[in-house]
Amino acid sequence: MIFYFTGTGNSLYAARSLSKEIFSIPQQMKQKDHSYQADQIGIVCPIYGHEMPQMVKEFIAKSSFDTPYFFLIITYGNRHANATELAEKYLESKDMHADYITSLLMVDNFLPVFDMAEQKKIDKHVEDRLTKIKADIEQKKHWIEPVTEEDRAAHADYLKLVGKADESIWADFRYTDACIGCGICAKVCPAGCIAIKDGRPVRSEENCQTCYACIQACPPKAIQLNPVLGFAEKNPQERYRNEYVSMAELIQANQQNEEEEWNT
Ligand SMILES: Cc1cc2nc3c(=O)[nH]c(=O)nc-3n(C[C@H](O)[C@H](O)[C@H](O)COP(=O)(O)O)c2cc1C
Repeated sequence: MIFYFTGTGNSLYAARSLSKEIFSIPQQMKQKDHSYQADQIGIVCPIYGHEMPQMVKEFIAKSSFDTPYFFLIITYGNRHANATELAEKYLESKDMHADYITSLLMVDNFLPVFDMAEQKKIDKHVEDRLTKIKADIEQKKHWIEPVTEEDRAAHADYLKLVGKADESIWADFRYTDACIGCGICAKVCPAGCIAIKDGRPVRSEENCQTCYACIQACPPKAIQLNPVLGFAEKNPQERYRNEYVSMAELIQANQQNEEEEWNT
């Protein structure tokens, strides 16, 4: 049993490659009961600034996992820093114990730093890593990916860069005139932050997970990031969705608001 959170499909693809029984965290958040029992339970999610998305942390905090083997797979695109250690500490703070934590390098969807056209060209050996991780999990391997002092320093540098700002600094974006009011942005938002009113998107930043699902999925590329901390978008003309994940699957994973609710 794997729970996943995804903005652009990487973590959904990884979860699906590792188990037949996968559940979307944004959908689980709507359920009343968060007690889960299975022979193995895992979470697959991206990292934002080396940390698990806020919603994943909330899901972990409110859930009880009755399992002899709990694992965590962190998908990332360029630098995981001490993400495995930060995740382990978070679990410990919720009185949870992880048997296995590892990272999985995939396309980096962080638009302020990476050009999606360039990222798509890089072979990150995802299948090889997934085969190895799958074998580890099947054998119930006990292993927490170690971190180095350099990894910790990389995270400290990141914290220095963002200063007192919280993760929402990465969620400062605008709709351009290219918006056709199609509502895809609203459907792929895992936090239900976007509604379509009078044919135009209306967005609340509160609870935004900074997953970029809306920006990356927008058919006319009408959502663009405002420059932040000196980072402007690398390539506003190129967007990303994992090549093995369809738009329909992404919507199924993330949609919060019923169409009637937002298409008014
Ligand atoms: C706001 C934001 C912050 C990110 N921070 C990091 C990071 O610190 N290190 C890293 O290697 N990748 C980072 N990424 C890239 C994602 O973790 C990576 O592309 C992940 O596989 C995306 O998974 P998904 O397609 O399931 O959403 C970031 C992406 C976003 C949108």
